[in-house]
Amino acid sequence: MADSELRQRKPQGDDDKPKKKKSSKSKRKTDDGDDYTPWLDILRVLSFLFVASCGLSYAISGGESWFWGMQNKPSYLSARWWKAQLSGPVHLTPEQLAQYDGSDSEKPLYLAINGTIYDVSNGWRMYGPGGSYSVFAGCDAARAYVTGCFAEDRTPDLRGVEDMFLPLDDAETDAHWTAAELEELRARELEAARERVQSALKHWVDFFANSKKYHRVGYVKRDKDWLDKTPKRELCAGAQRGRRKRIITT
Ligand SMILES: *[C@@H]1O[C@H](CO)[C@@H](O)[C@H](O)[C@H]1NC(C)=O
Repeated sequence: MADSELRQRKPQGDDDKPKKKKSSKSKRKTDDGDDYTPWLDILRVLSFLFVASCGLSYAISGGESWFWGMQNKPSYLSARWWKAQLSGPVHLTPEQLAQYDGSDSEKPLYLAINGTIYDVSNGWRMYGPGGSYSVFAGCDAARAYVTGCFAEDRTPDLRGVEDMFLPLDDAETDAHWTAAELEELRARELEAARERVQSALKHWVDFFANSKKYHRVGYVKRDKDWLDKTPKRELCAGAQRGRRKRIITT
């Protein structure tokens, strides 16, 4: 109705305007006809289907869900995801990353693992303040993922973590081997322990990388020699307790 009114009114207004403008306008009209592309229509149809799907889901679920009961709506439906895609990866120092631990509810919730930062705002109840995994927020706690010592090991420093997978020396048990055999055995144990650390870390690296709930936003920025400047840490008590003596298998 309003549209047809406008069309009727337009010629009247145009009468006052110079002729030149009128002709350019009619020219544009024919150009429009020649350049017709279906994209706008396709977009219209797709938007319609999307809205219709949401509406149908809403109706069928009795107002419970716009997305067919999906607990976490797909990340591409969140403004944060689009922002991250458009702005490219962020590079944060550990101090900057610490500001995304959820204490400021205006900021998204970030955690890092092995230097890669993820937005875990969709897991606010778990990683946010008061959540059972809140120690992982705002930092790269790669060590804690492996040792299980959440409170002590909020650091990506993995030096010495392999100890947790090494057997304890015990004079009585170890007398079973000659000194040379024991040396060789220890070397093999060390190699296997390092592999276990890497695979434990990889498990969590892959978990976040493949998550549909969380998405990557960037990387932690550190000085190249940050590890050299960091004092080595002891294996935490919890991981130490899990160590056993060698087992004689012959
Ligand atoms: C951790 O990061 C380092 C350096 O970027 C990389 O070489 C290594 O493969 C990563 N480890 C895992 C388990 O993804």
